[in-house]
Amino acid sequence: MSDPTRRDFLRGTIGAGLASALPLTALAQKPGQGVPPAPMEAWQAAGGFRFVHLTDIHIEPELEAARGLAKCLEAAQAGKVSPDFIVSGGDLVFDALEASPQRAKELFNLYKKVIANHTSLPVHPTIGNHDVFGWARKNGITPATFEYGKAMVKDLLGLKETYYEFDHKGWRFFVLDNIQPAANAAQIYQGNLDRTQFEWLAERLKRTDPKIPIAICEHIPLMTVTPFAFPGTYHDGKWEMSNSLVCGDTVERLKLYRDYNIRLCLSGHIHQLDRVEYRGITFICDGAVCGNWWKGPRDGVKEGFGQLDLKPDGGIDYTYRDYGWRAVAS
Ligand SMILES: [Fe+2]
Repeated sequence: MSDPTRRDFLRGTIGAGLASALPLTALAQKPGQGVPPAPMEAWQAAGGFRFVHLTDIHIEPELEAARGLAKCLEAAQAGKVSPDFIVSGGDLVFDALEASPQRAKELFNLYKKVIANHTSLPVHPTIGNHDVFGWARKNGITPATFEYGKAMVKDLLGLKETYYEFDHKGWRFFVLDNIQPAANAAQIYQGNLDRTQFEWLAERLKRTDPKIPIAICEHIPLMTVTPFAFPGTYHDGKWEMSNSLVCGDTVERLKLYRDYNIRLCLSGHIHQLDRVEYRGITFICDGAVCGNWWKGPRDGVKEGFGQLDLKPDGGIDYTYRDYGWRAVAS
């Protein structure tokens, strides 16, 4: 936090007689300019950076969700350390799976409008199950319908592919698309990478300098303890959870990840919150921007977003931030 008393004192001192000791550029500054910036956090000065993870936004025209997202974006960018970028963690809209083509487009356009009006930061989107158009096959939608499946979100968000990588200040980020059509007829989707994406990831990991810390972002968690608290997960002497809740390819991916410098695996989907440290990787399953689909907190987890401070040595500081939303329906 800045210290106005000290700032005012310094300004007063300059005005009272030290002006002759200042360079001309300083003298030309307007009031309020030339104030020394707040000291950088030590980790930031050493090359660290902050980003924010806004997952499970589930924007819709109802329940003042657009105002909620705007408030969340404002909170995410407030404070003395600015985030360098936003990762939007999937389930951007509610809901393209079951909506008509017109409604689905309206939802994505609403998401884009609120983002455009409330941030100029780069936003890296992740695909969630609710962002896939028409897979529920309602409203007469078939695979022949224009922009069926992931084509709509790719088109409207300008994505060449639903998975990609980018580098930032010494870290490498992989944003994955783990939403696949379900093999089981009782489900619409399941969580895992398809072969093409798995092989692409394996190849890219192999080509990444082992000194570079890696962060992986995806929608459905690869590893989370949150389902252990769900009624029904334990029954008939067994723990059981669906691959629509937690990825089904965890064993294969953990085996792949062992050989590489992966530090962070970030997900959402559950609208609950945990941080699991396992085999040198921090798995964060983040809480939801929408909480309980804009109807209040979800089982005690408030509407919020993840704030991540990453260090050049691979260190991670994580904070879940409640942005102060009060649901109109609660
Ligand atoms: Fe969600």
